[in-house]
Amino acid sequence: MRIFIDTADTTELQEAFDTGLVDGCTTNPSLIAKSGKDFKEVIGEICKMTDGPVSAEVASTEADMMIKEGLRLAQIADNVVVKLPLTWDGLKACRALSEENIDTNVTLCFTATQAWLAAKAGATYISPFIGRLDDLGQQGMELIGEIRGLYDAQDYDTQILAASIRGPLHVKEAALLGADVATIPPKVFKSLLNHPLTDKGLDAFVKDWAGTGQTIL
Ligand code: E4P
Repeated sequence: MRIFIDTADTTELQEAFDTGLVDGCTTNPSLIAKSGKDFKEVIGEICKMTDGPVSAEVASTEADMMIKEGLRLAQIADNVVVKLPLTWDGLKACRALSEENIDTNVTLCFTATQAWLAAKAGATYISPFIGRLDDLGQQGMELIGEIRGLYDAQDYDTQILAASIRGPLHVKEAALLGADVATIPPKVFKSLLNHPLTDKGLDAFVKDWAGTGQTIL
């Protein structure tokens, strides 16, 4: 499973890219608003930080305008993925942009039938929102399994991009269920590594090694 970072904060993003383990980035209008930066500028900046996919979301809700915005966003860099909402207009725009060989990420997916329609519209990625389903008392993760089963049974190559990830358990379960990618907030990405026994164990090894007085080089 590939890892994208879900942020428009370029400082946090660079820190994540520096690990060498991150494959791309997703943004959304709320993250852009939080960054306080100019949308097209920040997408350009992120696209220079990675060769991997960078999702940039359209702002309009009507297909014709979404297509125009998508074409404009795709001009920013070769690795821009145009993000579109899971509406009839979004799917029309998805079909049109796919026919122009522009990568798309269909977002705000909450059911397997929505994911099926997105695949039929030629989406490169589908973004099921796990955490927001959990917030309503549903098992968000079940959706990943359903979409995996549906895409495999029907032979669609749309990639499942697990989104609205709230913690390490979501990441682990998404990977076990066969998601192609998880887009992870920077804080959750850092938490994937943490374990007190790792820290404690390393402290002991460092101390014991120092006691030997030896060097390796
Ligand atoms: C995905 O592309 C979205 O930007 C994101 O995962 C939404 O997460 P949230 O539900 O935490 O806002």
